[in-house]
Amino acid sequence: MDLFSSPPSPKIQIDALTRELKEHNYNYYVLAEPTISDREFDRLLKELEALEKEFPELAHLDSPVKVVGGAVTKNFITKKHSRPMLSLGNTYSEAELREFDERAKKLAGMDFEYVAELKFDGFAIGLTYKNGKLIQALTRGDGTQGDDVTENVKTIRTIPHQLHGNYPEEFEIRGEIFMHRKAFDRMNEERVKNGEAPFANPRNSAAGTIKMQESSEVAKRPLDCFLYHFLGDEKRFLTHYDSLKEAETWGLQINDAAKVCKSMDEVWAFIKHWDKERKKLSFEIDGVVVKVNSYQLQHELGFTAKNPRWAIAYKFETERAATKLLSVSFQVGRTGAVTPVANLEPVLLLGTTVKRASLHNQDIINELDIRVGDTVFVEKGGEIIPKIIEVDLDMRPLDSKPLEFITHCPECGTALIRKEGEVAHYCPNEEGCPPQIKGKMVHFVARKALDIDSMGEERIDLLHEKGLLKNVADFYDLKYEQIFGLSKTTKDEETGKTKDTRILEKSANNILLGIETSKNTPFERVLFGLGIRFVGETVAKKLAKYFKTIDAIAAATFEELNAVDEIGDTIAESIIQWFANPQHIEIIEKLKAAGLHLSVDESNQPEIDNKLDGKSFVVSGVFTKFSRDELKDTIEKFGGKNVGSISSKTDFVLAGENMGPAKLQKATDLGIKVISEEDFMEMIG
Ligand code: IVH
Repeated sequence: MDLFSSPPSPKIQIDALTRELKEHNYNYYVLAEPTISDREFDRLLKELEALEKEFPELAHLDSPVKVVGGAVTKNFITKKHSRPMLSLGNTYSEAELREFDERAKKLAGMDFEYVAELKFDGFAIGLTYKNGKLIQALTRGDGTQGDDVTENVKTIRTIPHQLHGNYPEEFEIRGEIFMHRKAFDRMNEERVKNGEAPFANPRNSAAGTIKMQESSEVAKRPLDCFLYHFLGDEKRFLTHYDSLKEAETWGLQINDAAKVCKSMDEVWAFIKHWDKERKKLSFEIDGVVVKVNSYQLQHELGFTAKNPRWAIAYKFETERAATKLLSVSFQVGRTGAVTPVANLEPVLLLGTTVKRASLHNQDIINELDIRVGDTVFVEKGGEIIPKIIEVDLDMRPLDSKPLEFITHCPECGTALIRKEGEVAHYCPNEEGCPPQIKGKMVHFVARKALDIDSMGEERIDLLHEKGLLKNVADFYDLKYEQIFGLSKTTKDEETGKTKDTRILEKSANNILLGIETSKNTPFERVLFGLGIRFVGETVAKKLAKYFKTIDAIAAATFEELNAVDEIGDTIAESIIQWFANPQHIEIIEKLKAAGLHLSVDESNQPEIDNKLDGKSFVVSGVFTKFSRDELKDTIEKFGGKNVGSISSKTDFVLAGENMGPAKLQKATDLGIKVISEEDFMEMIG
């Protein structure tokens, strides 16, 4: 840099900051893929705000300082909000919170109460009810108009389609859609198993999900919603808190942490409490929202161009730490996708030592302009994988060089490819690249596929190394004499401990028994086990039901596959490609010869146990042992029916954690049995 040149003019600074913030808004709201932390965003916004204050003539008309972030996505119908969907002013400091209190007191000229609420880290939504019916759900969009996502929102079980009690004729209520941590983890596990990229955090996955075009896909993802802002005839209530309590009686889900606070001291105690306790919640919060309780006072305080003067968000610090990037390694997954991983100088963050962080793909590396030797900031929200959010450019060594993405597979040396429109690099050597081969076998023996639990990752590793396993068909050729006595010692890189894998008599018999038993696995699970990209459990079930045999699937054209419900272009294309590979056909033939089910065997369908015959169930809440879908499947397997909402015809409500109190009340009023996950397990024996 030329040390004698003058700093950029205010115009250049304002233009650059405006451009940058708009891009971040787009990443955050539209793509649901933010590339900087909230804190960094707020810092940039404050910088621009200060510059605009000093040079108002240079401010852009659509400056992010004036406009609520966001834009409307193109595939939904956009509709105007009844009232602008504003955001909140926010702060990270107690002093600023006290200043907010002072200012509000001055304007109000008296003492007043606040309501302190959790700030849910999700996706804002405005629901409109008319005559008790949910008629519209709009996203924030640009604050003036949003996307109509009503059909998708209707799949969220805690959002009632029909209210009960003494609800107003027409009103809107706004809230936040989010995903519980456990549900998010489970969904990501599934995605990785199916060869799809995992979501970075629950907020992104909630936002990404609600913008999906297929409501049936949305329904499969466990979203939840808390409502926090009534808009309608506010004269019905004296205070905001009253509005929440009454909305709850209509069947709407309100979070019960909301608390009336007599002073800012009480608010501060609430904040400190939740900052400590938030890790125990089943969902993520990123702060506390503080609102003036009295509606009268809210009206008197009014709004600035962007925010209400009667509310503020206090944001929790996301812990971050500075460390050094020592090297970058590249990991190859089951699908051949290559993930760059940052190896870091160990650093303590939220109680755990962080040594590694995913760098995701080349685009992210380029965006961060990260280099070996750089000082980087890692951030960790909740239990999420640590993320590198920023490079400290001032600390960059003078001789550093831009990071080059590898051109060849680190495992097998094959030249990598990058498919058009995809961000990941792939190793195309499916049949010869060790982590891909082993990954496919691990997937094949997984519980939801062939369920060979005597065959874990270490044993697969060992048998592959000894040349006994080259593909999934080889399991069925294994002989006692070949596997008995094999052993291997490995060292765990993380802990430094050594581990022995040794196959003695009992294990050898167990392995062979597991493999033999797996021959009874139904066709749909064998199909899932083959690990065809994008053919997850549900798609495998659909394909098996529709085509009945593997030969019919192999022979199906793109159009025939595409005609099946929920099989889109990507899945159809992937299936065609898989069956075009002669090695895959050979595997299929070998599996057939080994006696596996490669067609739907109508006579061999498991006998139906009709314990729950004709009984109808409402499954609601979050469960600890099984997912909601697993419970529903089990109900159907035992002859029961799943229904969406509680009525006098419901026999049982299967209730998990966080089931709305209104639902519980309704079930009790109607005399319906409310049972727990454990009761249900007992019921089906
Ligand atoms: S009240 C005009 N209450 O945080 C006031 N917002 O940073 C409207 N949020 O735009 C918002 N939890 O998307 C409110 N308990 C809560 C909230 C909450 C999360 C979101 C909401 C808002 C943003 C502000």
